[in-house]
Parts: sequence; structure tokens; C-alpha cells
Amino acid sequence: MRTLLVGFGVVGVALLGWGLRVGTVHAAPDEAATPQFYATRVQPILKEHCYRCHGGMNHRGGLNLATRAGMMKGGHDGPVVVAGDPAKSLLVRLIRHEGPANDPMPMPPKLPEISGADIATVTRWVKAGAIMPDDVPRR
Ligand code: HEC
Repeated sequence: MRTLLVGFGVVGVALLGWGLRVGTVHAAPDEAATPQFYATRVQPILKEHCYRCHGGMNHRGGLNLATRAGMMKGGHDGPVVVAGDPAKSLLVRLIRHEGPANDPMPMPPKLPEISGADIATVTRWVKAGAIMPDDVPRR
């Protein structure tokens, strides 16, 4: 009897594992890989923390984050976003304080600091392909 129960237990665990795998396979496509994610989650963060120096009339470091063209062109040091690769994206490295330490310096350079949750959102967006609407509306 005991062996039988253990047997059922193993089958149960196996079935559970299979069920979880099937669940992942059928999961919805990553919402971070949509232009809506940029418009509703990422752009508000950039607007709040970056546009005053990288939008409108101000293109500090040669970088305008307020338009798609500006985002793609990057700044004095070249492209700042490498789609799918946060570790190679200067924008992500600077907000995560992963260097370079001085030139250019960590962003934003002054308070208020960008929150951990916001950093995670921007990182997730770059990792998912940095997809944005064609016409990022100007501020
Ligand atoms: C108070 C003004 C200010 C704010 C706010 C600010 N930046 Fe900057 N940013 C600068 C300046 C100045 C530079 C040029 C620094 C340098 O070259 O050493 C720069 C440079 C950069 C660069 C490097 C461009 C290049 O090619 O060298 C990136 C990427 C960047 N900023 C991203 C951001 C992001 C993302 C935010 C918002 C989280 C932000 N910045 C907020 C002033 C600002």
C-alpha cells in the first residue's frame, strides 16, 4: 500500500511538472515587446527623469530621448540602446550605475534618483527588443 501511494506521489509530481511546462509554452507573448509597453510604462519614466535634459531644447551629451529618431541615433558616444541587450546599452548601464563611472556619468546625474522598479522596467523593455511606436509624441 505504501509503495502504491509513493508511486502515485511520483506520478503526481511528474504531472504537475508537465502541467507547469505546458503552462509556460502557452503563456501570452511578453507585453514588454509591444509599443504600448513603451508608451504606458517606459516613456513616463523617461519623461519624469530624463526629458528635462534629453528632450525639448536640451540634448545633453548630444542625446534626445524624446523622439524615436533621437533615441535610435544616441549621443556623443554613439547608440545608447542595443535592442535585446541591456548589458551593451549605455542608457541601461548608466541608470544601473554599471559604468562608465565618470564619462559619461551615471544617469540621472542629480536627484531625484530613479527607483529600482523603474530601472527594472526600462531594462525589461530593452531586453524585450526596445520596441517603441513609430511616432513617439513630443512633449
Ligand atoms: C540634469 C540633467 C540630466 C538629466 C536629468 C539626465 N541626464 Fe543624461 N546626460 C546629461 C549630461 C550633461 C550628459 C553628458 C555627460 C557626459 O558626456 O559626460 C548626459 C549623458 C547621457 C548619456 C550618454 C550619452 C552619450 O552618448 O555619451 C545617456 C545614455 C544618458 N545621459 C541617459 C540619461 C537617462 C536615461 C536619464 C534619465 C533617467 C538622464 N540621462 C537624465 C544630463 C542629464
